[in-house]
Amino acid sequence: MAALVVVALLLPAAGLEAAHPAAVRGTGGAVSSAAPAATEAGLGILRAGGNAADAAVATALALAVVFPQAGNLGGGGFAVVRFGGEVNALDFRETAPAAASHDMYLDDDGEPRPKASLVGPLAAGVPGSPAGLFELHRKYGRLPWARVVAPAARLARDGFIVNTRLQRSLAASEELLQRFPETAAVWLPGGQPPSAGSVKKLPELAAILEAYGARGAPAITEGPVAAAVELAARRHGGVLRAADLEAYRPVWREPVRFSAYGWQVASMPLPSSGGIIIGETVGMLERLRWEKLPRFGADRSHLLTEVWRRAYADRFLLGDPRTSRASAAQLLAGHWLDVRTAEIRINKATDSERVRAWSRERAEESSETTHLSVMDGDGNAVALTTTLNRSFGCGLLVAGAGFLLNNEMDDFTTAPGHPNSFGLVQGEANSVGPGKRMLSSMSPTVAWSGKQVIVIGSPGGSKIPTATVQVLLNLIVDGDGLQAAVDRARIHHQWMPDLLYSERYAFSPETARALERRGHELRATNKVGEVSAVRGIVAGNMEAAQDPRGPGAAGVVRPAVY
Ligand code: GLY
Repeated sequence: MAALVVVALLLPAAGLEAAHPAAVRGTGGAVSSAAPAATEAGLGILRAGGNAADAAVATALALAVVFPQAGNLGGGGFAVVRFGGEVNALDFRETAPAAASHDMYLDDDGEPRPKASLVGPLAAGVPGSPAGLFELHRKYGRLPWARVVAPAARLARDGFIVNTRLQRSLAASEELLQRFPETAAVWLPGGQPPSAGSVKKLPELAAILEAYGARGAPAITEGPVAAAVELAARRHGGVLRAADLEAYRPVWREPVRFSAYGWQVASMPLPSSGGIIIGETVGMLERLRWEKLPRFGADRSHLLTEVWRRAYADRFLLGDPRTSRASAAQLLAGHWLDVRTAEIRINKATDSERVRAWSRERAEESSETTHLSVMDGDGNAVALTTTLNRSFGCGLLVAGAGFLLNNEMDDFTTAPGHPNSFGLVQGEANSVGPGKRMLSSMSPTVAWSGKQVIVIGSPGGSKIPTATVQVLLNLIVDGDGLQAAVDRARIHHQWMPDLLYSERYAFSPETARALERRGHELRATNKVGEVSAVRGIVAGNMEAAQDPRGPGAAGVVRPAVY
């Protein structure tokens, strides 16, 4: 019997020391994800003899059923894996359709067309998840493919219990979902979201998952399902075509690799900025001897903020690896980290306008994404983050297929020089172009030292790298227990807007005042990410923690008390 801990409380953390519950511990494998049913699907696959890749795919597919805000077949994602000694990164990010063009979201006057990159299928990139999850299993999986897909198909066929988060998300997105009768018929039956606690069945999605289990990616990327995607796109003004789905290929990439405080770290490379931001962060912190400063109080938060100002300023040079204006090698080079670190003052915030003052580009991303962390009994690890971009993606459900299409095109620089729908602008390196992959912040990460392995990641748009690196620092610098590291209150700064965001309890009143005296403008935020973490310790022992900021769950195959 597996242990499954559902986390439902948000505990005070950080400067105000609180008692943290322990992570769930044991052997045989561990899973942490944003939904209890998805964690259970992954654990079931581990119990059936599956490895970390099998369990990660099963968990991701279950999220596509029970967490349709972000889990998906119509979106994309990234995975960083460590199998045996091998570390690898799978890019199944969406691509721009073949008919996409640089100015496709502008009107004749060169002005951004409102919501064009957010609502409806014109906002959709070519889904990467069907081929990506299939490829993850092809390269590393152990169980038969159909066995790995079966738990998700069963959840869709037999039904699952709608949780409060889903009910509230549906209610919050009602206007978007009502625009498309295909979507409303499934997710707003009778004009209302299903109530929390009711059982939801998704027969169309179940049939697609069953076909996917029988025939693999081509069951979705070719034939009638791809044709249904094209039909849905054409009906609502999109340029996505069946040929785009058939042509899509996931890519194995070299992870961004760096060492930090005696640990080896592998994180996601371009087209995600996540691994680079995390690498720059720890590279600068080590130069600043950040770990020697008192844990609580203003100094550490001030320096984290100064470091992020610079890492996020550098982000605006980044884009699809083919067009990016900077690379991980350049931004993580010792001399660049030295230059950036030398700009930082311990007692004074830098005005963000002065960091790369030649550029006024800025950006933010939406927060609806989901991360899962998995380890099997042999210590193999998969960190996987997947998204539709905004909650429920572009809002359009593919009739006959039952899955929603993403609105990932909004992660491109859709209107150069203009603020996007979030009031922000990105760089030319990330402009729209056919076949290009839009810049991301998703940061699936694996870190190891001796026998210990940490598998970690988060949703949260532009807050993903800062959430992930704070938990990592809590573990590798301060030696927190896994659950305490995840629970602890977090902060965030992304260069522009020039605001230091803080969760409740992140700062004592004195620390907040000290930061303001140094020139930081503070802003409250309800959460910075929602971290799913697993840690392998020694001799097959492992632990899993899920973030109390959401209703997810962490579990292990064979629980133990130690
Ligand atoms: N759509 C959010 C991200 O990829 O970073």
